[in-house]
Amino acid sequence: MVPAIDQPLASLEDWDDHVRDRYDPNKPKDSFRQYTDATPPGVREFYRQNHTHQTLDFVLSKKREYGSLDRRRMGIWQALEYLNTLVDESDPDTDLSQIEHCVQTAEAIRAAGEPDWMVLTGLIHDLGKILCLFGEPQWAVVGDTFPVGCAWSPRIVYPEFFEANPDRNVAKYQTLNGIYEPHVGLDQVHLSWGHDEYLSMVVRDHLPAEAIAMIRYHSCYPWHREGAYAHLTNAHDAQMLPWVQRFNPFDLYTKSDSRPDVDALRPFYEELIARYFPVELRW
Ligand SMILES: [Fe+2]
Ligand SMILES: [Fe+2]
Repeated sequence: MVPAIDQPLASLEDWDDHVRDRYDPNKPKDSFRQYTDATPPGVREFYRQNHTHQTLDFVLSKKREYGSLDRRRMGIWQALEYLNTLVDESDPDTDLSQIEHCVQTAEAIRAAGEPDWMVLTGLIHDLGKILCLFGEPQWAVVGDTFPVGCAWSPRIVYPEFFEANPDRNVAKYQTLNGIYEPHVGLDQVHLSWGHDEYLSMVVRDHLPAEAIAMIRYHSCYPWHREGAYAHLTNAHDAQMLPWVQRFNPFDLYTKSDSRPDVDALRPFYEELIARYFPVELRW
């Protein structure tokens, strides 16, 4: 089956797998940047599309489009089940379903003795991927995220693919701080659009700031992993960064083939969800 032009990844997991491979702790440091040849063509094409189309205008238009949160009304568990209807070309016999991935991440955080809101964050952090079900192309749902409206850091993966991004021709956006004041704080910085930003909009009033940071920045590898964009961050971001970094290994490395017993775990998670969220949320 030939992937559709705007769906170069056989499965959204292909992007997660790529990031996991890039930051594989067992990989010698020297080989870190030499991932291009080994990267599957679909993943390269995915990044080419992402870096070409994620402009400031695009991000602002998506924030307007989704910011009204008037698409659906669903509780958290309902949203997990909705995400589970996302079918891609992954192998149903060997690959975990979306819901199993979510529960697996949460279970790993619970087993590590982390606070309950962080367990809940693990459960929900990828729910924004329902953007796919709203018809968004893969490049506007997943991928490493980065600030827009200012110069792209060379620490963003595949920086060469920004060559074709129209923001290259806007002088203001090509300066270090771009449209932002120095140290304005990431709260005020527009990030490339995807599942992270979308979910942070949906859950923002219900979880502690640390959880919101984990959700909004979990794919912002240029910041939390590569140390870029310090010129835009403030004291609040400095407080949040260790939490985002604490969350990341659970996101990257809890993937295992053993299926969690979702039915058996559901009552525990329903109770946890009810501790923080209303019965229905606006999506
Ligand atoms: Fe994610
Ligand atoms: Fe994730």
